[in-house]
Amino acid sequence: MREVSIVSIGQIPVEKKSSLNLRSMGASAIANALANIDPEQVDAVFAGNMLSDELQGQKHLSALIADTAGLRGIEALDVNAAMASGAASLRMAYLAVASGEADLAVAVGVEKMSDGVPTAALAKALDAENDVADGATMISKNADLLRQYLKHFDVPEDAMENFAVNAHRNAKNNPNALFFGKSVTPRMVRKSRIVHHPLKLMDCSPISDGAAAVVLAPTQDARAFSDKTIRILASSVATDRFSLNQRKNPLWLEGAYLSSQKAFRQANVNLNDLSLFEVHDAFSIMACLQLEAVGFSKPGEGWQLAKENKIRLNGKIPISTFGGLKARGHPIGASGLYQAAEIYLQLTQQADKNQIKRPKVAMMQSIGGAATTVISHIFGN
Ligand code: COA
Repeated sequence: MREVSIVSIGQIPVEKKSSLNLRSMGASAIANALANIDPEQVDAVFAGNMLSDELQGQKHLSALIADTAGLRGIEALDVNAAMASGAASLRMAYLAVASGEADLAVAVGVEKMSDGVPTAALAKALDAENDVADGATMISKNADLLRQYLKHFDVPEDAMENFAVNAHRNAKNNPNALFFGKSVTPRMVRKSRIVHHPLKLMDCSPISDGAAAVVLAPTQDARAFSDKTIRILASSVATDRFSLNQRKNPLWLEGAYLSSQKAFRQANVNLNDLSLFEVHDAFSIMACLQLEAVGFSKPGEGWQLAKENKIRLNGKIPISTFGGLKARGHPIGASGLYQAAEIYLQLTQQADKNQIKRPKVAMMQSIGGAATTVISHIFGN
């Protein structure tokens, strides 16, 4: 296997409702990523998306986006791992380049959630027979987890509030974030309305439209494309029992644990080497449980990392450094590619006001379903 690097990224701003159609959103992110690269050199496109079949009546998206982007005659495949589809497309592009099948591959993620009501479509990441038949949604499952967490570990109701405050603080400076320029105080989080008890509006990521892309090349050739490149040190996937109610302890994310352990072994790094961690904070409770599963705190204490400001840009383990899913927005299939693009900006010192001091190694984790599929990537400069 060859070593692989990210040589370029492209993002379009996350919006409540994009004026572009789905194919143009994906093609725009690719065009931004290929601004300084000859499109003729691209061998493959992998597109991450979850909902186009439901919301746009569109399958076969990767070929459609490749065509719209003017990339003809190349491999173009759809990749789907529910909410982790963006990270899955990054992994497929990584494997294509690492194996030698492609010399230049694009991973693009795109989602247009404003074209319909996505809640029922999102719930299809759960077990249709055993969860959804009983009325479960992603929101209700995460509300259950939060309720169990607060009770089991006997923590205060406002335990999670700093996850949202931190994410919004970072999104405020990110022009690509849905909540760019918006100030959110702890009081606003505390007073936000209950969506599904005990889950509040500010515990949730918003419904949004967006697209992001990254371009991958063999590390040995990376400098031919850009003088700003980062290496992919690990790419791993692990799954857990499909449903939360099949698990002995739903508050322990075994998939996140296994996926991170595999990634640490591949990258030959450990927890203390990480300068930042882009978490899958679709709900605050997920960020908290992920920090625990990956090892940043003991079970029941992840929320204290937020409370004690250890997740801030200058903290022990910065998370959601451009706003995360919570405040940059969570256009489902695009989120993993936004995470990768943001890590590229951090490691190449282009994060502007959100720049972390001298970051060396960064991890991202994307989650599909109720923490069923967990995809980890580790990057270094
Ligand atoms: N965080 C912060 N503000 C939010 C928000 C969120 N998650 N969702 C909406 N808002 C804001 C809007 O910007 C709007 O503000 P404005 O009036 O100043 O413009 C206001 O709240 C009302 O927005 P609206 O879109 O009408 O909210 P809603 O009640 O329809 O939706 C949720 C709120 C939480 C139900 C929706 O965002 C949601 O379903 N989130 C979860 C999505 C999901 O399940 N994703 C998959 C995760 S795995």
